[in-house]
Amino acid sequence: MRKSSQLEEEINKRKTFAIISHPDAGKTTLTEKILFLSGAIRSAGTVKSKKSDKYATSDWMEMEKQRGISITSSVMQFTYQDNKINILDTPGHQDFSEDTYRTLMAVDSVVMIIDAAKGVEAQTKKLFKVCSDRGIPIFTFINKMDRQGREPFELLEEIEEVLGIQSFPMNWPIGMGHSFQGVYDRVVEKVHLYNEQKEHQSYQLDKGNWNEDILKDLIEPEQLLELQETITLLNEAGDSMDLQAIKQGKQTPVFFGSAISSFGIPSFMEHFLELAPEPQGRDSNNGFIHPSNRDFSGFVFKIQANMNPAHRDRIAFMRVCSGKFIKGMEAWNDRTAKSVKLAQGQQFFAASRGNIDEAFPGDIVGLYDPGLYQIGDTLCGTKNTFSFGKLPHFPPEHFAKVRAKNAMKQKHFYKGVSQLAEEGAVQVYKTDKMEETILGVVGVLQFEVFEHRLKTEYGVDLDIQPLPHSCARWVSEDKNIKIDNQNYLVHDQVGNPVIIFENDFSLRWFKDKNPDIEIY
Ligand code: G4P
Repeated sequence: MRKSSQLEEEINKRKTFAIISHPDAGKTTLTEKILFLSGAIRSAGTVKSKKSDKYATSDWMEMEKQRGISITSSVMQFTYQDNKINILDTPGHQDFSEDTYRTLMAVDSVVMIIDAAKGVEAQTKKLFKVCSDRGIPIFTFINKMDRQGREPFELLEEIEEVLGIQSFPMNWPIGMGHSFQGVYDRVVEKVHLYNEQKEHQSYQLDKGNWNEDILKDLIEPEQLLELQETITLLNEAGDSMDLQAIKQGKQTPVFFGSAISSFGIPSFMEHFLELAPEPQGRDSNNGFIHPSNRDFSGFVFKIQANMNPAHRDRIAFMRVCSGKFIKGMEAWNDRTAKSVKLAQGQQFFAASRGNIDEAFPGDIVGLYDPGLYQIGDTLCGTKNTFSFGKLPHFPPEHFAKVRAKNAMKQKHFYKGVSQLAEEGAVQVYKTDKMEETILGVVGVLQFEVFEHRLKTEYGVDLDIQPLPHSCARWVSEDKNIKIDNQNYLVHDQVGNPVIIFENDFSLRWFKDKNPDIEIY
């Protein structure tokens, strides 16, 4: 058998994933419990308590907001048993931004958390769509089983119907809320018993022997009988686990648990680490780039200015795709057709960041950026090699006209607008006639961040006038098109024509009236 190289060994140790959920489903709690189990944080003292205004280390974003710094999705690297884990945080709800979507371009799998009482919620749907479009594996954690929630079968049905993905329950809950006794792991035939005092226990069934006396002592007889019947039903009539479908994001392994009491997390992690893919390769304009390709490559998926207010620095977040990143190496930027020295690389840990000397595929490296990078840039270890192509644009849903309050600040205004657009913090459009500036964002908080940054970084006070419009689409041409007065024909940052529609109805009307125009 061929001996694997150091590079392959490092790749096989890694998992790079995001946790997605609607706010309050338990993302912060789950992240923190994983960090705690890994030993990356030492106590639950960092646990967020919204009531006491303390935030978990993983809620870095919120802390940044409070410190008045711009908003970001955070990245965390830590070791879990022998695995190197990179978790990319995806803020939800009012913190939602294009960054959130783009972060999902840099992961190999996602964990989707669902609140057992609420089922599939709006934000989960949006995030799920981006992941399923990429065809990446999705693992589902149905949380808060210690509370009365909806019936497990009903939740699985909703996942299948609303999200259009097949579900495979990896474990099955024994009761719920006050009568929650634990879960039965269908894969390893183990019963995990829930204990409110957090002294959970596990019991291995002897080849599916439901008649063991010990089980009868541990589980209420009625629940035991119901569990046995359900498991028989699932095994006989349910779908079987399909590793290929999981890999393609067509089937989701589902786990029931209770993050707050750490219940179900060790076994979830055990299965997740076994099933989730190691860092995957990527398509480029020069064919598929395998992570074990010895030549270094990576791409920038996010740029963040002023991460550290004391230094006013700008960091480009790069995902390593192949080969090895070595501090000080020369890399070729395909877009600028220039070589750049990657003098410093930073990695992000549970509560801090630090300089690193090397990194491997799946890792996220923060590069100091004096304005050299743009989102979507490919960096290669050798000259003139390839490009991974642009990252997709995500159609904004909120719009506002902006201008500098003080006309004397016009130059600073345009500089700020163009730099922040390059960073991908907002999408910027120009109207044809009046040359007005319109911003487009996917989450309204982006306006606030934009306003704050224009003031602190460029000294410009903004006049922001929100628009009632709700969707924008790029069009193949801007001649001979008929649009309503309420809609705007504008041009994006690089001059491509875009129409900003008031609502879905006007978008459909436009499609009917202009059948020859391609819109995307
Ligand atoms: P998020 O990051 O997805 O927004 O969710 P977060 O972890 O902040 O959890 C939201 C709320 O749900 C928190 O309560 C948290 O304690 C609770 N929670 C998380 N997991 C579980 C669980 O397994 N069972 C139960 N019963 N509750 C859970 P909160 O009242 O908003 O905040 P706090 O005062 O408890 O911190």
